[in-house]
Amino acid sequence: MSRPRMILDCDPGVDDAMAIITAARWADLVGITTVAGNVELEHTTANACRIRELLGLDVEIHAGASGPLVGAQEFAHEVHGATGLGDLVLPEPNRSADSNNAVEWLVETTRSEEGIYLVPVGPLTNVALALRADPDLARRVASITLMGGSAQGVGNVTPVAEFNVYADPEAADEVFRSGAPLAMLGLNLTHQVRMGSMHGRECATFGTPVGDAMAQLLEFYAVFHLAEEQIEDGPVHDPCAVLAVTHPHLFTTEARSVHVEVDGTHTRGMTVVDERGLRADGPANCGVAYEADADSLVDLVMQAVREA
Ligand code: BDR
Ligand code: CA
Repeated sequence: MSRPRMILDCDPGVDDAMAIITAARWADLVGITTVAGNVELEHTTANACRIRELLGLDVEIHAGASGPLVGAQEFAHEVHGATGLGDLVLPEPNRSADSNNAVEWLVETTRSEEGIYLVPVGPLTNVALALRADPDLARRVASITLMGGSAQGVGNVTPVAEFNVYADPEAADEVFRSGAPLAMLGLNLTHQVRMGSMHGRECATFGTPVGDAMAQLLEFYAVFHLAEEQIEDGPVHDPCAVLAVTHPHLFTTEARSVHVEVDGTHTRGMTVVDERGLRADGPANCGVAYEADADSLVDLVMQAVREA
């Protein structure tokens, strides 16, 4: 099976770590860029480096934006822990980030190779800055397949805003207006794909460092979701964006016109998805994922852990 060439732009982050593990198994990873989001940039970058070492991956990691285009940084320490990987403590990595120029690297890498899939699973700051530096990037990538936003008005930071878009709405707005082929894996989709302690216990039986790490990530995640929602499992958001590229047949997607609300008093950071079909206000700019074969997606994540 040929693996799609992929750049993962992330803010690890418990489910970002799962996305790196998933991408390492199912994609041909060209590189990883990091952005501030769930936790501070220094931690998201260090965590990406730790996961790289855990997986024995030989890909470059480039650190990017330490805050949004406008305003103050939003974090999600309560979901991901103080430094981003919950209770998981991984050894200090031998190799640090390859540069602090994620934006430049994104521009250069997509210039030297067209047709790479860009998969952002954190705030869209790096991607927006790369598009500002070179708007033609929108044409050179196979797609920008992002975890963020939501159809059907489901939010997790506010009633209607999802974290990655809420953390940098101006950046998201620029990405959605860029003309790039876009796919959106929003909360309406990722809430269907859930993992918890049961999967964690299975990972622990693999008897490998990656299995043990995944078990700890899932346990931390499960405890948070049990306290927050009285549900034993949590949505594994970020692996969905990776798998939408590597296994698109497992998703049902509709072409929609999507705009990002940057002003609203109660709706800043909302993705407004026009579901009126022919009556939509504008042409479709995004493939919005609505349904997924959740069991198969979870199996693919588990297989990635088992085989790492
Ligand atoms: C998104 O926000 C972050 O907390 C997760 O890593 C995911 O990318 C979900 O809203
Ligand atoms: Ca993330």
